[in-house]
This record gives sequence, structure tokens and C-alpha cells, in this order.
Amino acid sequence: MKKASLIKLGVNIDHVATLRQARGTCYPGIVQAANVCEAAGAHSITVHLREDRRHIQDEDVYNLKKSLKIKLNLEMAIHPAIVDIALDVVPDEVCLVPEKRQELTTEGGLDVVKHFKQLEKICARLENKGIEVSLFIAPDAAQIKAAAWLGVPYIEMHTGTFCDETGTKADRELDRLVRGAILASEIGLRVNAGHGINMNNIGSVLSVPCLDTLNIGHSIVSRALFIGLDGAVREMLTAMSRYKAGFRR
Ligand code: PXP
Repeated sequence: MKKASLIKLGVNIDHVATLRQARGTCYPGIVQAANVCEAAGAHSITVHLREDRRHIQDEDVYNLKKSLKIKLNLEMAIHPAIVDIALDVVPDEVCLVPEKRQELTTEGGLDVVKHFKQLEKICARLENKGIEVSLFIAPDAAQIKAAAWLGVPYIEMHTGTFCDETGTKADRELDRLVRGAILASEIGLRVNAGHGINMNNIGSVLSVPCLDTLNIGHSIVSRALFIGLDGAVREMLTAMSRYKAGFRR
């Protein structure tokens, strides 16, 4: 019998599409990449349909929904046109993120406190379709409590600040993640985490308790250049297999 994983890996394949869009070719294939991740043991596939369509295109999301056996997690901003696409595709999960046109990647977490009313309506529409909603937030008590008030099942803690820091600043950020995960778990939220995670910092990220899924993209797709996508996914899964049962609540 297959042993249940203590922590799951969602592979973000946006940057496979970045490579394709750089030349406007039909390769590398998004569904093909997702299939390799699935065969290597990934638990879900994440894609971010950005308003500027810089990497993932609408068609990719529809094709993934048709072909994936594992879960599809759609990252998206709270823009009406993108919400309509999500309601049409019906991915297994949606992760609501903040989005700015000029940013290189998602900067900071969603301000759930500020956008509470708007989020209430969007979450209700997504949940009515059977889509599980997650909110990408900083590990702050006010944001975590607001997410719980919204009644969403998941949050995804932004690990980017921790991953970008070193020394005592990194220690402080890791501590924020630990406290955030414990609080969220105590008030009934399931806790995912992501952004900036790689083979160098995964060991520290795994010291955060109560984690359900890590969503990892850029480092896995980069590593795939040298050891292949299958190898890069398996390498991360092996590192994650060190997650201790005792950490979970
Ligand atoms: N989770 C969320 C919500 C994100 O926006 C991103 C980046 O698209 C990731 C995870 C993956 O981040 P990275 O590519 O740095 O691993």
C-alpha cells in the first residue's frame, strides 16, 4: 500500500509557459509538463492565470482541467473577468492572490481585511461551484483571522519574505511563519505555503508545523534544466519526505 504523504507538493508550471511565450511557439507543452509532474508524484498542479497573460493562457487552464488526474489549483487575482473564467473551468482549488501589472512575481499577500466585502462575494460564487478557496496571505494574525471569518478552508502563507532574507531577519520571518501556521491551524484553517522555496531553503520551511501543501514553481522548473522535470519533482519530494509527523496538529 502507498504510504500517505505528511505534506503535499503542488508544482507551479507557470514558467514552462514563460519559455513557450518567449518565442510564441507551441512548445514546451503545458499538459505534457503537468503529466510529467503527475507521474513523478506531485499531488497537484498550480497555474497562475495573470491578467496580462504573460505565461499561462486561458486555453492552458481548460486543457489542464480536461487532462489532469491530480488536482488543479488556479491562482488568480480578484478581477471579474478572471473570476468568470474560474467559474467556467471549475478547477479543484482557487488561490486568490494580489496582482500588479509591473511586478516580476506575486509581491506580498492579499489584504483580506481591506477587501473583505469583495472577497465574501467572490468566495461565495466560487464555493457554490464546489471550488475550494485558498487565500494567499502574509503570516499575520489579522489576515489569518479575517480568512477564518470568510469561512474559506485554506490559506497559503507567503514564504517569499523568509526565502529572500538571511541571518536574523530570516530567523524572524521563519518564526512568523511558525506562529502563523499554529494560529491558522488552531482556528480551523488548513495551511499551505509557497513562494521562493528551493532546495536550499526547503529544510527550514519544513520546520513550520501544520503544513498541508507546498506550492513550488520557479526553482523546480529551473532545476529541470539540469536534471529533467521528473528528477526535479522527485528531488523536492524526497526533501519533503523529511517532514515530521509530530509537527502536525
Ligand atoms: N504560491 C503562490 C500563491 C504564488 O503566487 C507563486 C508564484 O506564482 C507560488 C506559490 C510559487 O512561487 P515560486 O515560483 O517562487 O516557487
